[in-house]
Amino acid sequence: MLIRGAATVQDEDGVVHPVERPVVAVCRCGKSSRLPWCDSTHKLIPRG
Ligand code: FES
Repeated sequence: MLIRGAATVQDEDGVVHPVERPVVAVCRCGKSSRLPWCDSTHKLIPRG
């Protein structure tokens, strides 16, 4: 999920992550090795 113009992103544990770019990709699959950010690991997950 791409987010544009956010100053921070809060993860499910309530931790607030500063956003330092105009657009950031947030992981929705839960498999990223650098949560809350997407690292493209979702591309390796088979679709059901
Ligand atoms: S959505 Fe989870 S790694 Fe991209």
